[in-house]
Amino acid sequence: MSSPSATAPGVRQGDFRFRCIACAQLSDQASQDFRCAQCGDLLEIIYPSWEQERPDAAQLKAAWRDRKLSSSPADQSGVWRFRDLLPRIASEQDAVTLREGNTPLYELPRCARTTGIPRLFGKHQGMNPTGSFKDAGMTVAATFARRAGFRWVACASTGNTSASMAAYAARGGLRSLVLVPEGKISWSKLSQALDYGAVTCQLRTDFDGCLRLLQLLVLRAPVYQLNSINPFRLEGQKTLALELLEQLDWNAPDHIIVPGGNLGNSSAIGKALVEMRDLGLISKLPRLSVIQAEGANALVRTLREAAGKRLVSVAAETRATAIRIGNPASWKKAAHVLEATSGACEQVSEMEIAQAKAEIGAEGIGCEPASAVTLAGLKKLIQQGFVKQDETVVLVLTGNLLKDPDFTIDFHRGDMFKGGAGVSGEVDALRHPPVVLDATLDAVMRTLEQSEKS
Ligand code: F0G
Repeated sequence: MSSPSATAPGVRQGDFRFRCIACAQLSDQASQDFRCAQCGDLLEIIYPSWEQERPDAAQLKAAWRDRKLSSSPADQSGVWRFRDLLPRIASEQDAVTLREGNTPLYELPRCARTTGIPRLFGKHQGMNPTGSFKDAGMTVAATFARRAGFRWVACASTGNTSASMAAYAARGGLRSLVLVPEGKISWSKLSQALDYGAVTCQLRTDFDGCLRLLQLLVLRAPVYQLNSINPFRLEGQKTLALELLEQLDWNAPDHIIVPGGNLGNSSAIGKALVEMRDLGLISKLPRLSVIQAEGANALVRTLREAAGKRLVSVAAETRATAIRIGNPASWKKAAHVLEATSGACEQVSEMEIAQAKAEIGAEGIGCEPASAVTLAGLKKLIQQGFVKQDETVVLVLTGNLLKDPDFTIDFHRGDMFKGGAGVSGEVDALRHPPVVLDATLDAVMRTLEQSEKS
């Protein structure tokens, strides 16, 4: 394995710098573990040029709108279209892109009725090229990995990051190494990494164990890590919020609700909201709330038991495997954006996740289990009076329904909450199990009539 031929990650690009989130130390270079050389905390990317000459909000909005008519790959990307607020690339041809972003903002009329929130939307990041929000960050991070001269990229993953990384590595002519917890990620996600040509290691540990190992590996081998510790990933994921606000005609919603796992995405969205406010792109800061599974509730506990001052890790367990994380790397960044936007942090049960997922499915769009925590969490936030009926709410749906078919099938067949203990009539009514019939017209007609009655 050869060393990187060109520059180290993040050698001064002219328009951005790295800043430590704890001690605020500035640097032009980042080490391969993307930690502050002084205190060891995480880095974020900042743009000093914005202070000297603030980009003009109206001009930015016009440029982003005009690029929609362009046929260049960078302009057709829903990430690079917003490149004015990203680390600069020398030429548009440098972007490793699959035309990510450009994801729909759906109205959710059925969920709006059941929750009593008429202005309820789902920003569906599962409509990205590899089926999850990870693509928005990966296009930027893979571009900078290639530019820095690395041949290998690597990540620890609960599945979606690995699928996305493998795809972008393949597109960018890079080799990729995936570390996933054995038996704890969905086959759909694993199959993507295999097809895109990653070297895939199923480790006998959990996600947190995979991430720990990766941190050691990057200090020993010339591999570029593409977990969300990598601040280029978060810059790309910021564009979710930019695109969302553009879709809402720059009228900020009252609430944005996002699932929390390793907490990179909430950190990225929060950073984007604050930047948009500071640049005058929006006049009001939406509240950003993070929802976790009860069995993987490290941030909830960190805020409740330690007032956000130190991480309370947990031994994570949930069937929403994408967020089965007990030791989230970006907890400090997430705690910071919750504070900056006055957002909430809640947890939801396995049953609440399954119910919410089926309700989003009944809208005709579906999502993966981890995404459904947003709707389940919204119901709690309404009960608590944190979200009010006349407010506009956007749920960030992070992954596609097809990412985890086992969960969906187990739910509808009734295999999920075996014995039915605690399954309410409301949940039962959402189940649509398949029926096996003789291949006769009579049998199908009878089924149709029975369904009509139910
Ligand atoms: N939703 C989905 C579908 C995810 O795949 C993840 C994270 C999250 C939500 C949570 O986002 O980590 O930024 O807080 N998946 C990672 C992975 C960890 O490896 O695919 P987060």
